[in-house]
Amino acid sequence: MDPVRNPYAPGAGQRPPELAGRGRELEVFDVVLERVARSRPERSLVLTGLRGVGKTVLLNTLRSQAIGRLWGTGKIEARPDQSLRRPVAAALHMAIRELAPHHRAPDRIDEFLGVLKAFALRANPPAGGRSSAPRLRDRWQPGIDVPAATGRADSGDIEIDLVELFTDAASVATDVGTGVALFIDEMQDLGAADVSALCAACHELSQLGAPLIVVGAGLPHLPAVLSAAKSYSERLFRYQRIDRLDRIAADRALCAPAEREDVAYEPKALDLLYEKSGGYPYFVQAYGKATWDHAPRSPITAADVRVAAPEAEAELAVGFFGSRFERATPAEREYMRAMAALSHVEDSSSDDLDAAVPTADVARSLGRKPASLSPARDALIKKGLIYSGERGTVAFTVPHFGRYLRTQPG
Ligand SMILES: Nc1ncnc2c1ncn2[C@@H]1O[C@H](COP(=O)(O)OP(=O)(O)OP(=O)(O)O)[C@@H](O)[C@H]1O
Ligand SMILES: [Mg+2]
Repeated sequence: MDPVRNPYAPGAGQRPPELAGRGRELEVFDVVLERVARSRPERSLVLTGLRGVGKTVLLNTLRSQAIGRLWGTGKIEARPDQSLRRPVAAALHMAIRELAPHHRAPDRIDEFLGVLKAFALRANPPAGGRSSAPRLRDRWQPGIDVPAATGRADSGDIEIDLVELFTDAASVATDVGTGVALFIDEMQDLGAADVSALCAACHELSQLGAPLIVVGAGLPHLPAVLSAAKSYSERLFRYQRIDRLDRIAADRALCAPAEREDVAYEPKALDLLYEKSGGYPYFVQAYGKATWDHAPRSPITAADVRVAAPEAEAELAVGFFGSRFERATPAEREYMRAMAALSHVEDSSSDDLDAAVPTADVARSLGRKPASLSPARDALIKKGLIYSGERGTVAFTVPHFGRYLRTQPG
């Protein structure tokens, strides 16, 4: 069928033509927004799930929902080894710019911007510091054209500064009767000190009933990262596991956009597409897209899916699996191959292709001492390729990754 009209959108953070199966999450967030704006006690939200399950897309949708209620919003994507200070400053700058048109007192906005600038600039070494030739990144300037304030959010202690900055941002939002929402994608990549400061700031703000919330998204071990920083984080955040789509939602993800183009699927085609995708949103889009391009006419048949599947698989092998595999060193690849072989044996009865495997078994199958494999394991966790959900076990963050590795020549 006409590839120009192909509605499907496989890709990182690509808005799907139909956001299927996330009704509950959207409803919950609506209630959260309403409660926070009314100073009711409410917890910040954290979405967790495997790669390609739709966390970024959902985070963006929640952000639109907040903007629709005239909230100020900003978003950051955490990166390993990057401090939270500048991205948070930029995100709150954005949030306040969204609120400013609804605010009656421009000097209140300027006051906040002065504090924000001081917060942002605190990342620079203090004037007269050690280095006489500041590196490029130290000369960074936030694009805020009011003078920096002093004495607020500029102590240099990220925990103190975040509490003060968040409190002030929330109070601007209180003036206009809404709130501020800070969205953090890839939240598991935040540094330990930043996670700890962020938890402390959320804790403080929720006690004050101040209308600012953090909405995070990350890999399945994000709750463990947060509770390692602050033991009370389990009570601070509402965790929502974002999972693969059930059969009804997956069918809707495929059928609703097709219907808008006057295209239908035969039931057997949908059976086969679900079998191939396992309901994982990225795969739903990838198989849907290839099938559309190969099908000669509506309705789309199971035979069309069968013809198109190898192309979808080839694209996934390069773009989804291969690009990640290439980020691993030879030792890390060996570790993942051992995991793949074990996960296959352990769960051959279940439909979950890549169950968690004990690290001790990985070591045994490689004939190595567990301690000697810790560097490879830790590096893979840091690269976001595997995670440790339960102590002493590891699993792939990428769905069907084990199966992919088992088909690759060693
Ligand atoms: N609810 C949904 N219905 C249909 N398609 C979806 C849905 N959610 C996400 N998708 C599609 O799945 C793909 C992956 O989405 P997204 O990038 O948000 O995943 P992610 O969880 O953020 O992945 P990663 O962990 O790699 O960042 C995109 O192509 C998107 O269009
Ligand atoms: Mg994402």
